[in-house]
Order: sequence, then structure tokens, then C-alpha cells
Amino acid sequence: MKQNNYNIAVFAGDGIGPEIIKEALKILKIIAEKKKLNLQLHEGLAGGCAYDRFGVPLPDASLELALQSDAVLLGAVGGPQWESLDYKVRPERALLALREKLGIFANLRPVVVFEELLEASPLKKNIVQGIDIMIVRELTGDVYFGKPRGVKKGKDGKRYGVNTMVYSEDEIRRIAVRAFEIARTRKKNLLSVDKANVLECTELWRNVVTEVGQNYPDITLKHMYVDNCAMQLIRNPAQFDVIVTSNLFGDILSDEAAMLTGSIGMLPSASLGEKKALYEPIHGSAPDIAGKNIANPLATILSAALMLRYSFSMQPEAELIEKAVAETLKEGFRTQDIHQPGTKLISTEAMGDAVAKNVRNLLN
Ligand code: IPM
Ligand code: MG
Repeated sequence: MKQNNYNIAVFAGDGIGPEIIKEALKILKIIAEKKKLNLQLHEGLAGGCAYDRFGVPLPDASLELALQSDAVLLGAVGGPQWESLDYKVRPERALLALREKLGIFANLRPVVVFEELLEASPLKKNIVQGIDIMIVRELTGDVYFGKPRGVKKGKDGKRYGVNTMVYSEDEIRRIAVRAFEIARTRKKNLLSVDKANVLECTELWRNVVTEVGQNYPDITLKHMYVDNCAMQLIRNPAQFDVIVTSNLFGDILSDEAAMLTGSIGMLPSASLGEKKALYEPIHGSAPDIAGKNIANPLATILSAALMLRYSFSMQPEAELIEKAVAETLKEGFRTQDIHQPGTKLISTEAMGDAVAKNVRNLLN
């Protein structure tokens, strides 16, 4: 990788994917021009759109594109028209295959409440004010990938659905190390979430995280069962700093935590491996609002900011985008998911333009 020369694989995907990706690219291009970055954007097909064209959700060419890139930007995959397909060719498989093949085992989901959106959260203002949580979700293990899996007929002639929750100690150790390192850059509190009272797999999780913790005496490590964590996220979310958890628990807890911020349309994510990285909003393809120019592009724009921060070491520029989003919200602009009386309801495209204007202002 030559300096300032980056290849980005872009998979807009399905549903609202193309609309939100367009706005994120708008922002990236402004930064690139101003900072003299040579961003090569390579668009590829992944998800239902790829299945319709090639009969597979992740064609070889798309995988190759991702493997050759410095970073991947993804919109969303999936939709009702593909729900009856065999699991192996469902749009979601594209995302799971990318995670597996890129080895991106650490999924960072920052949950930050913008002051301007306090009213948009379904929780009381005093509960969500100032929350700043980093969810570190393991992304390439657990029931998502464990074998055996499938629906099989038993000897009694009845159907059995099977998935396997499995973690090796190495898999737990590497995500724990990431989480401790992240905690070190923040308030130095790490909460590991498991179900060690019932599941042996997560008992191992708890033990390995505790072992890793011996190398991080400066970090306060605590453990919590996942059911309690789900409750505490609503009762008192301000108690959390960094949360590390397994793939399935992380999937569920991060959707829950997203609502603290007012809308799932606000949450970006970074999925990091040893070398590769993928950036995507945590929300899905929202087929019900696709093509209407009303989706919230902010989670995708904020994911582009994470790309600058984690893949290109451009911390000031990442912060600049985050500040531009905050400014735009301060000006009162809202997409429908975060719209409140007294604020200005605008389209996906207009939201992208409003953030772009603030990015330009802040760059000057
Ligand atoms: C997410 C999504 C995915 C997941 C789906 C689309 C496969 O819900 O990224 O949180 O379950 O990981
Ligand atoms: Mg999810």
C-alpha cells in the first residue's frame, strides 16, 4: 500500500443499501480531495442482488475484490424476496462469508448518544444522557459458524434443528486482548458478558477472559450474565464502558443498545482482523423503506469515519466527520426515524448534503 493510496471495495447490497452508501461515498470523496488521498472505489455485488445476477450471494469476483482491498464498505444485505431460499445462498451468507474469509473477528460497535437526539430515544433523557459504550462483539465463531448445524430427521422420524455453540480458547483470547487494548484507550473498565451459569462454552469464555486480564492489571474487569446485561442496558446504561461478548449475544445486545441512541439508523460498526477490515452500519436493509429516499444515512457515514480512523490512521478526519454529523443534528435536520416535533424532516440525500456542507466548513 503506497502512502495515501487506498483501495476500497464497496458493496452497496440490498434494500436501502445503495441509498445510504451513496451518501457515505459523498463524504469520503470530499475528504479525499481535500487531504490528497487517492481513494480507488471498486464497486461489487454482494447479497440478494448478487444472487439474482449470479445465483450466489458472494461471487468469487466479489470475494477477490474484498481480499485485495485495504478496506471494505458495505451497506446492507437481505430482503423478504430471498427469505425462502436455502440457507447456503441467502443474502446474509455473503456477509458471513466475508467475515470468515477476511478473518475479521473483532466487531466494534460504538454506542454514543448525540446530545441533540436525547428526545428521540424511547428512554428518559436522564437515563441515556452522556452514554458512551463500546461493544466489542466476537464475529467469526459461536453458533454462527459452529458445526454440526442444520435441520435433520431423527430416528423417530421427527425433524431436529441443530446449531453448535463453540469457541476455542485461542478465539476467546484474541478477542479478549482486543477488548482490553480498547479499554486501555478509554475509561479502563471492561465488562465480559456470558451465560456461564448455564453454558460450558461461555464458562470457558469467562475463564479465558479472566486469564487474559492478568496481563492488564490497569483495567477493571467484571463479568455479567447476558440476561442481566440486557436488563441493565435499559435500567442504567451509563454504567458501561467497554463490553466484550460472543457473536450471538453481541448481535442481540447491540441492537438493543442501538435504541438508546434514538434509532438503529445511527449506529456504525468496524469489523477488524489482523490485517483486513470491513465497515458497515449495524442496521439491516430495511426493505419496507427502500427506494424512497427516506432512510437515515448517518450510520453509514459514521462507518466511513471509522474506516478513516482504524484503517487509514486518520483520527482528525474521523473526528471531523463525527463533528459534522453532530453539527447537522444541531441545525435541526432529521430523517424520519429520528424526527421529532420542531425539527426539520429531510430525505436521505438531503441529509448527506447537509453533512457534506458541514464537512466542507470544518475542513476550511
Ligand atoms: C448484524 C446482522 C447480521 C448478523 C446478519 C445480517 C447476518 O444482524 O450484523 O448484526 O446477525 O450478524
Ligand atoms: Mg444484528
